[in-house]
Formats: sequence, structure tokens, C-alpha cells
Amino acid sequence: MAVGIFDSGLGGLTVLDAVQKRLPDVPFVYLGDSAHAPYGVRTPDDIYNLTTAAVQRLFDEGCDLVILACNTASAAALRRMQESWIPKDKRVLGVFVPLIEALTERQWGDNSPPREVAVKHVALFATPATVSSRAFQRELAFRAIGVDVESQACGGVVDAIEDGDYVLAEALVRSHVDALKRKMPTPDAAILGCTHYPLMENVFQEALGPDVRVLSQANLVAESLADYLARRPEMIGKGTKSTFLTTGDPKKVSSRATQFLRRQITFESA
Ligand code: DGL
Repeated sequence: MAVGIFDSGLGGLTVLDAVQKRLPDVPFVYLGDSAHAPYGVRTPDDIYNLTTAAVQRLFDEGCDLVILACNTASAAALRRMQESWIPKDKRVLGVFVPLIEALTERQWGDNSPPREVAVKHVALFATPATVSSRAFQRELAFRAIGVDVESQACGGVVDAIEDGDYVLAEALVRSHVDALKRKMPTPDAAILGCTHYPLMENVFQEALGPDVRVLSQANLVAESLADYLARRPEMIGKGTKSTFLTTGDPKKVSSRATQFLRRQITFESA
């Protein structure tokens, strides 16, 4: 039995780490499409084609349930996949909804009409493709009214993290936070809308200041997956082995991943 976890590269490891801690008995197959990362500067068609190819690879590996641990794929491809591509006996879930449910104080499956919530001014930090999809605003509008969202496309941060250049990543995060603050000086909450960014969470928090609540996805997605599997245990699927697959160079990706999660991670060729 195994659940698939997909990201364009290393960012989904932040989600994998949290779901492994929350569900230690469930095997996970991680697939990072490092050969094509970053996705955040690609077109929606390109993101759709790459994401469906990667998810098919995870289905072939015995995963009936795949988590898109990638906001860019969740924002630019998931809706289209759900409408016309996903086979009836498989499920693909994104990482946006658990985050928006937390922000709007909702339980899973609460489909009641949109209502006023405590937060009024939200800063969204994400990749250029996620920002231009406006998927976050769409999902939020289904659940909340009167929330002002200001987005900041954080060009360059994913590339710097994939390259292991954390000094550059930090400098870029600080400049993106400055740019956001010029548009929205006092957000109540900030969303780290890219699975690579939790690695920079302290830098975001420091640059935003202590009064801003910073929300990142890993633990929220882990809780939501635990809840889903308690209701749908059959979706754990047929695979039995935990593995890390990459479309990139396994040696290079393993070394970056080990640095990223601060524990030994060994990737195989996808
Ligand atoms: N980590 C991904 C996300 O959550 C993708 C970043 C990218 O490939 O640009 O958006």
C-alpha cells in the first residue's frame, strides 16, 4: 500500500516529512520532477502535461491516491485533471484546500455559503504561475467574504532552493516581502503558497514581523490526509514500498534532498 506524493522538485519533501510523521505506517512514493523544475514559470498547458505524466507514473507505481504537494500544479492543473483526466478508481488531491479551510475556520466538507472570517488582509507568497492562476482567490471566495488578498509572485526563490543556494533564497525572500509590504503594509496573515517556502519560514516571519500569522501547508495537509484515509482507507492502494523517485540526476537530487530535510534521502531514477 502506498500513497503518492508529487512535486516539481524538492519542495514536496516538506509535505512528505509531515505526512510521514503523522502517518508512520503508510508507505509513500515521492516523485520529484527535477528535470523540469521550476514549474512556476511555465504555461498552464505545460504544467498540466508535466503533472499528468508524473501522476501517471505514480499510478503505475501502485498508488491509487496522489497528493499534488505542489501549489503550482494544484493551481494550474488540478481542476482540469479532475474534470477530464483522472480514472474513476483513482484520486488526486491538492494542497490548497486544507490551507484555505484553516484560514477560514472551516472543517473538511463544510460547504456552507461564504461568511465573514477573522482575517481581513491576507498576503499570498507563491510562484508566478500560482499567482496568475488566481486559484487561491477562487477557492477563498467559495468560503469567505470581505477578505482582501494581495499576492506576491516570488520569482527566483524555488530555483535558489533547488540549487541549494540558501543565501540567495533568503535575500530574495526579504525583497519579495518588502515588495508585498509596499502594496499591503499590515497583513493579518501570510500564506506560504509554495511547498518550497517552509524552508524559509523563519525568514518570512522575521521580515513580516511578529504580528503577522504565517501559515504553511505541511502540517495542515498531513492532518487533512489522515482524516481522508480514516474515511477512505481503501485509497492507500496496492503498493507496499516507500521510495523516492526523480526525473533528474539521482545522485545530485539525493544530496540536495539530504541537505533540505537534514536526514539521509536516497532517490532512484523515475
Ligand atoms: N513547490 C512548488 C509549489 O508548491 C513548485 C515550485 C516550482 O516548481 O516552481 O508551487
